Amino acid sequence: MTTTTHTATGTLLETAGITKRFGSLTAVDDVDLGLGRGIVGVLGPNGAGKTTLLRILATVLAPDRGSLSLLGLDPASPTARTEVRRRLGYLPQSPRLYTGFTPLEMVDYVAILKEHTDAAWRRREAAAVLEAVGLGDRMHKRIRTLSGGMQQRVALASALVGSPDLLVLDEPATGLDPEQRIALRSVLAETAHRGCVVLSTHNTAEVAALCQHVLVMDRGRICWSGTPAALAGEAEGRVWESDVEEPTALRSWLTGPGTRRHVGTPPAGASPAVPTVDDGYLLVTRLAR
Ligand SMILES: Nc1ncnc2c1ncn2[C@@H]1O[C@H](COP(=O)(O)OP(=O)(O)O)[C@@H](O)[C@H]1O
Ligand SMILES: [Mg+2]
Repeated sequence: MTTTTHTATGTLLETAGITKRFGSLTAVDDVDLGLGRGIVGVLGPNGAGKTTLLRILATVLAPDRGSLSLLGLDPASPTARTEVRRRLGYLPQSPRLYTGFTPLEMVDYVAILKEHTDAAWRRREAAAVLEAVGLGDRMHKRIRTLSGGMQQRVALASALVGSPDLLVLDEPATGLDPEQRIALRSVLAETAHRGCVVLSTHNTAEVAALCQHVLVMDRGRICWSGTPAALAGEAEGRVWESDVEEPTALRSWLTGPGTRRHVGTPPAGASPAVPTVDDGYLLVTRLAR
């Protein structure tokens, strides 16, 4: 499936037929993307290939097959790859931090790796991104003394350093409390103003609130692509509630004492419920199988 969300500014990220195998397992299978400015959410069950796809987009992993263009550059070429990495921010699914460093030292170090040579600028920038993730008052503490959620935000600040035009975030909301999630939204909205943000998540509410575009991934493939509203719309007229098991349902789950919600073909007389992104997601992942 070709997935295109071009905007007036053109394409910032393009892939054609990218494929990655681990032994006999195809983790990413023939993925075509064309993404412009904005926030794109990648949804999918565990093992769908989200992390592998994001690692390819972050130039950590090279695809076995297919081509890739990031910010108009081809990361297969070493010179272009260095340029891309300077303009790219990446938050891995399990970020590794130097826990003996302070947040300020950690972010400064990432800025050095991105070849920002002006030390005074780096210090200001590191302080600004730590402030943006709500760690302004912790930037001089050792990372090992910080909570899991704070460490996650140090990693996020490291991804944000230098105002990247391409931001790749693997489950960025993990370990954040509701207030921090809301703060994350405004930080990402700012990046999305000038560049492309690709994030993976398990949180469909997050996708509805934050993303202009959704990719649903299943078994290495993009099985659905569109807006969050269109994903909810997939379940229009195909979601209903009752207090019994329904043979025509593709999926059913309990929503309260004795109440079940179903997606699939409603029986005659059932009154359809208002569909959510969850309903659409459950329906398209089931239909893809
Ligand atoms: N380095 C690796 N070596 C072998 N198999 C891997 C490796 N990375 C991922 N996989 C496999 O590839 C599939 C996709 O994994 P992943 O990209 O982590 O999916 P997701 O992030 O959607 O959970 C899984 O079956 C996983 O076990
Ligand atoms: Mg993952």
